[in-house]
Amino acid sequence: MAIKQQFLQWATAATLVASTATQGAWAEDAHSYAKLDEVSTPHLELDLTIDFDNKQLVGTATYDLVRHGDADTLHLDTRDLTIEKTELWVDNAWQETAYQLGDTHETLGQELTISIGDSAEKVRIHYATAPTASGLQWLTPEQTAGKEHPFMFSQSQPIHSRSWIPIQDTPALRLTYNATLHTEPGLLAVMSANNSLSDERSGEYQLSMPQPISPYLIAIAAGDLEVKSISDNVAVFAESYIIDDAVWEWADTPAMITATEAMYGPYRWDRYDLLVLPPSFPYGGMENPRLSFITPTVVSGDRTLINLIAHELAHSWSGNLVTNASWRDLWINEGFTSYVENRIMEALFGERRARMELALGYQDLLEDMQRLAPQDTVLNIELGTRHPDDVFSNVPYVKGQLFLVYLEEKFGRETFDAFLRQYFDDFAFQSISTKQFKEYLARNLLAKHANVVSMDKINEWIHQPGLPADAPKPESDAFAQVEKQMQRWLKGGQLQTADWTTHEWLHFINSLPLDISSVNMERLDKEYGLTASQNAEIAHAWLRLSIVKNYEPARDRLRNYLLTIGRNKLVSPLYRELARTSDNLKWAREVYQQAKPGYHPLTQTVNEALLYPDND
Ligand code: BES
Ligand code: ZN
Repeated sequence: MAIKQQFLQWATAATLVASTATQGAWAEDAHSYAKLDEVSTPHLELDLTIDFDNKQLVGTATYDLVRHGDADTLHLDTRDLTIEKTELWVDNAWQETAYQLGDTHETLGQELTISIGDSAEKVRIHYATAPTASGLQWLTPEQTAGKEHPFMFSQSQPIHSRSWIPIQDTPALRLTYNATLHTEPGLLAVMSANNSLSDERSGEYQLSMPQPISPYLIAIAAGDLEVKSISDNVAVFAESYIIDDAVWEWADTPAMITATEAMYGPYRWDRYDLLVLPPSFPYGGMENPRLSFITPTVVSGDRTLINLIAHELAHSWSGNLVTNASWRDLWINEGFTSYVENRIMEALFGERRARMELALGYQDLLEDMQRLAPQDTVLNIELGTRHPDDVFSNVPYVKGQLFLVYLEEKFGRETFDAFLRQYFDDFAFQSISTKQFKEYLARNLLAKHANVVSMDKINEWIHQPGLPADAPKPESDAFAQVEKQMQRWLKGGQLQTADWTTHEWLHFINSLPLDISSVNMERLDKEYGLTASQNAEIAHAWLRLSIVKNYEPARDRLRNYLLTIGRNKLVSPLYRELARTSDNLKWAREVYQQAKPGYHPLTQTVNEALLYPDND
């Protein structure tokens, strides 16, 4: 009964989406060939073989068709897919139908146009992926920790679903899916769906995602995975080498869920599990519904990097429940999520830690703003058909977050919390554009509290480059203390670091004067073992400084770091720094060529642009 009611609720949400679609949210997505106003695909059935020998997914994608007019063609997005044939379900049988693949567009891939006639209710595409699919990474057994079994995973956001599923690849669409997966016995395949905790490894898996999600949230991974529960509704999937450490590291996840529900309403996705990816995973985390994908580089052994878990969990409200309608609206996902992340951290660990994390984000934002063209510091960014991956920065994250902090400060926490909670309810299971958000904000917050914030101010935040003059400038008392200590230390004094966490160390290293003497570099390293730090974030900050300072003793560690970690946020600032001098560039290219086979396609693309700029 409860299930049926919930289904009706989702069905209604899906209908609502269709009606918003006719208002044109989808039409603003320049990154998809889909025409949601003509035909939409609210349900997908996947039947895929995970073929490790050929590094391919092979099988079928079957869609339910909903026509919104008299269109007789379906337009899908693809990238590097081999299409074998397309079929229609007519008169209770499959019939082959004509299709056409368009020219390859560097960013968008290829449009797949399928003739669907006027009555078919389903379409089926037989296809195979390329071994170089931009949204998949295939690791050989030697590239895994266990060394015995291969591993594969997807990273679909923003527009890589199309490299492993022919799909209407726009976040304006919402669809449910079921999947049948075939892989080697002994391996476990998981998805952003109702994964089982059973320890059976038959190689055949049936999965289902009953809530409508956007295409970029469809995810898959397969490998030698074990599973261990943290609580009744939270478990960790990981290779055995790290599973106990990850369960310990993330023990606070159930409390995070409770805290978020108290602020923003129920967690609507049933289970919340975490999957540890290999070190080549290109992001820190990815909020695949019910199963966040997480880099092993945040399993630091001291629980200091769990804001990343708070972040991916927060997407269960901001992003997965209320979703950006196009990649120009990414701040609606990431700005809200960074805000919610920080609120979760504050609720669990107090204001001091939350402030430090906000201040670190602010510093990162200022750094990015220096580097970026002014027009790329706009929240509602103009992308044209540029690849969203090419303009990825802290702007949608931290500028978006500061915008919400600003609103919270202006309207007061109580009012702003109530507004946000209602927002998540009102837009649940819908995709919204920046324009829709502005209208909603005007009606439900600005108009209800006259003369607190003007629409001009909102427009400045959303459409102008840089930060408004009255934007919050997050500071942290803890960091002020670190800076004081640093001044004393630079004059030969001792540091009191006993109670420093990763945050203080990051601030300390990032604030060191660039004219720091080599004697002081050695002194720091000797006393605090920074070159040898196993904390991936601290090591990153130190190695970056070591490049600027030509600090030779860190070179071997730098090489090792670049060869073993593929998380782009940790890797690319190092290559960017190395690319500044010709000797370092030569060295970096050598290391890169050695590291390349282990890097994810995204990490390869981004860093080749840094190291071989003339090849573009
Ligand atoms: N959804 C993002 C990752 C993403 C964004 C991939 C846009 C592709 C396009 C994920 O939630 C994320 O933001 N990860 C961050 C977490 C950090 C801000 C705590 C990361 O990977 O560093
Ligand atoms: Zn995010």
